[in-house]
Amino acid sequence: MTAPAPIAAEPPPLGVYIHWPYCARICPYCDFAVVRDRGRRGEQAALVDAIAADLTAQAMMLGPRRLVSIFLGGGTPSLMDPKAAARLIDVCRSLWPGSGDLEITLEANPTDAEADRFSAFAAAGVTRLSLGVQALDDQSLIFLGRNHGADEAGRAASLAGRIFPRLSLDLIYALPGQTEQAWRETIKAAAGFGAEHISPYQLTIEAGTAFDRAVRRGSFAPVDSDLGARLYDETQGSLTALGFHAYEVSNHARGEAARSRHNLIYWRGEDYIGAGPAAHGRLTVAGQRLATETPRAIGDYMARVRAAGDGLLVREFLDPRAQAEERLLMGLRTDEGVGRAELAALSLFRLPELVEAGMIAADPARLVATPAGRLLLDRVTQMLAE
Ligand SMILES: C[S@@+](CC[C@H](N)C(=O)[O-])C[C@H]1O[C@@H](n2cnc3c(N)ncnc32)[C@H](O)[C@@H]1O
Ligand code: SF4
Repeated sequence: MTAPAPIAAEPPPLGVYIHWPYCARICPYCDFAVVRDRGRRGEQAALVDAIAADLTAQAMMLGPRRLVSIFLGGGTPSLMDPKAAARLIDVCRSLWPGSGDLEITLEANPTDAEADRFSAFAAAGVTRLSLGVQALDDQSLIFLGRNHGADEAGRAASLAGRIFPRLSLDLIYALPGQTEQAWRETIKAAAGFGAEHISPYQLTIEAGTAFDRAVRRGSFAPVDSDLGARLYDETQGSLTALGFHAYEVSNHARGEAARSRHNLIYWRGEDYIGAGPAAHGRLTVAGQRLATETPRAIGDYMARVRAAGDGLLVREFLDPRAQAEERLLMGLRTDEGVGRAELAALSLFRLPELVEAGMIAADPARLVATPAGRLLLDRVTQMLAE
């Protein structure tokens, strides 16, 4: 009798994040790695070449992988030539052949000019559009310094819903003077566009931004923490009533399949490549977890790829404690939580106190933050890591 053939184990999942740093205008609250795109066509073509080379070099470091997601983020990748997006998607497909059912997300701004190119992006292979509508009234959009009005954002959202199999909308709340009623109406209007996924972010005043300088000058005051907490509660209540489930602190999906496969890679501690300027990655190489980072400046990134083949300025192996702390930080953001076995390097001596206080659910196998715990997540993770 011949022995049965061994069942081949499925290769581990992999995500690819590609950072496209160009924007039509720099928003006053944004501290992402971005530049104005005006007059940079030649540089953009060279950057696409560098990203393709970087992806190829990083793929060589890894064994067999099952590519599950490509995320074209930014900046504003919807300003990219759709042919360039198609090329980078094809590079990924050829590096990891056999990746059939891929989630391919593109971040987009909702201007008419960009909406005109949605069909070309869908033809390039994009399956999921993440549209930054941010607000749905002109006054808020002017405050946020956006280059589109509410009508334009609505048109782009409706069109995207018809063109892409999956649609996610980003919103920003806790704007000065915003009432719970106004925020509730924005959420309702956003859900009306048929998106399967909504990501509402509380406005953060990031150091070094134009909003940071405006707050220091006294031009406006950020909302206080009480109103911030009430608006957060309003977010959870309204989106739940509309059929969205908060599977992560700022991410709500209508049904399991609507969850962002890409973001789940981050929150589950799976591997992802970061390519393009200012991109982070996490890769398991020879059984060790590697944290990677590319240079922030576009010129430095391209020079690094030319000189070294890949764009990795930082490659740092994470020790078991650093890995466990990262798992805690990421895992507790989601309703899946994090398995106790992944936290073996932490003593978790304050866990009973947090369970007692109703911040962490009483589950012997996993740590899952309760709704109250999610509201105070920074403090909860800090106590668990002590
Ligand atoms: C990479 S950014 C922007 C994508 C796209 N360029 C846009 O502006 O729509 C992703 C999301 O982060 C959120 N975001 C950026 N800066 C923020 C801030 N300071 N406070 C809250 N949310 C912010 C916005 O909702 C934005 O859509
Ligand atoms: S919010 Fe979006 S469009 Fe505005 S500067 Fe940041 S990445 Fe660019």
